[in-house]
Amino acid sequence: MAGAARSIVLIGFMGVGKSEVGKTLAKALEWKLFDTDLMVEEVFGMPIAEIFSQFGEARFREEEGAVLASIGLNCPSIIVTGGGAVLRPENVARMRELGPVVCLTTDPTTLEQRLADRNDRPLLPRDNRAETIRALLREREPHYRKAAHLTFDTSELGPEEVATLILRSLALSR
Ligand code: S3P
Repeated sequence: MAGAARSIVLIGFMGVGKSEVGKTLAKALEWKLFDTDLMVEEVFGMPIAEIFSQFGEARFREEEGAVLASIGLNCPSIIVTGGGAVLRPENVARMRELGPVVCLTTDPTTLEQRLADRNDRPLLPRDNRAETIRALLREREPHYRKAAHLTFDTSELGPEEVATLILRSLALSR
C-alpha cells in the first residue's frame, strides 16, 4: 500500500453505492473527491451512455485509465471508480498506489432492484437485465476480490453507515 498521502479508493459493481459513500466520506474527512465517471464525462462533454454509443466501450476504458492515472499521490482524496475500472491491471496497480482500496458489494437481488429502472448504464440493456447483472457479477467478482484491501457488504446499509464502517476500519476519525 504505497503512496505518500493514502487516499481511499472505492471500487465495486454498478449500484453498490460508491458515489454516495464517496461523497459522505469526502465530507466527513474534508478531503477532495474524484469520481472517474464524472471526470470522463467532463473530458468528452457528454454522458457515459452517449460516450459508449458514439465512441464505444474501448474508448471509454482508455479515458477511464487516463483520468485515474492523472490523480496525484500527494493529496489525500476519496476516489470513486466506475464498476469496470478493475478490469485493467494497470488501473488496479494505480489504485493500490493511491491508498487502501475498498470494495463495496451488494447482493444480486438488491442490485437488480436498484438498477431495474436506470437508463444511464450502457452495459445494462432493458431485456434480460437481471441475467446480464448476474453474468457481469460472476465475471468481475475475482477482479474486485483481487484489487480490494477491504470489502463491505452494503446490501442493508445506507451511505452514512457504510462510511462509518470504512472510517473505523481505517482508524480515521469521524
Ligand atoms: C461501468 C460502470 C459505470 C460506468 C460505465 C461502465 C461498468 O460506473 O463506469 O457505465 O463497466 O461497470 P458505476 O459503477 O458508477 O455505475
